[in-house]
Amino acid sequence: MSKEITIAIDGWSSCGKSTLAKALAKELDYIYVDTGAMYRGVALYAMRQNWISRNHSDVNRIIAALPKIKIKFSNKGGGEADLCLNGENVEKEIRTIEVSNVVSLISRIKEVRDYLVKQQRILGIGGGVVMDGRDIGSVVFPLAELKLFVTADPEIRAQRRYDELIAKGDKVTLDEVRANLQARDEMDSNREESPLIQTEDAIVLDNSNLTPAEQLEKALALVNKIRKV
Ligand code: DC
Repeated sequence: MSKEITIAIDGWSSCGKSTLAKALAKELDYIYVDTGAMYRGVALYAMRQNWISRNHSDVNRIIAALPKIKIKFSNKGGGEADLCLNGENVEKEIRTIEVSNVVSLISRIKEVRDYLVKQQRILGIGGGVVMDGRDIGSVVFPLAELKLFVTADPEIRAQRRYDELIAKGDKVTLDEVRANLQARDEMDSNREESPLIQTEDAIVLDNSNLTPAEQLEKALALVNKIRKV
């Protein structure tokens, strides 16, 4: 019998982590946890209170409100789940460029990270989970059996993200998307609290020239090797 493992997927913004994580969860019948959605949920809450704008956040108010910010996933099956903020399904709202523009200000707050990491560890208890983010292999599950560091050419990432937003009807320009990705990469990898790093035991998966199916195939081969041990 193969064992249930923990799969940690980290990498840059819009590099295909969630596409891979969802596909893996579906294929393996594992739970998928999108930790970026959790930070986006807190960002949306702060935006609605007018506590955050592109270059300012009212950190003290955000920290004080954390116990009132209930983040949950409503499972849709097949590796898909919607984010719920205090009982409201906000899956659509958290994916807008407005939230993307402020979320890095939220994810660099230590207290926010502690609050969400605690919940992420509970969600992943017992294995059989695919979790994606920036600090999964380094902080949330440093003992994960498989750690993937996903990467892709920055221009390809910007184009993919732009296509995604346009398909959803958002009015954005490629320049805007590119600038947002550059700013988030910069903040995510240079912040003091749990910056995005490639851990020594992570396997790099560059998907610049891979289709989602090819990427999945490579990841599954790695999973199967570990599960047979
Ligand atoms: O994966 P994403 O783009 O939805 O993540 C949103 C933001 O949250 C991103 O700018 C980085 C941050 N993040 C983080 O700091 N740690 C995580 N585990 C996941 C996301």
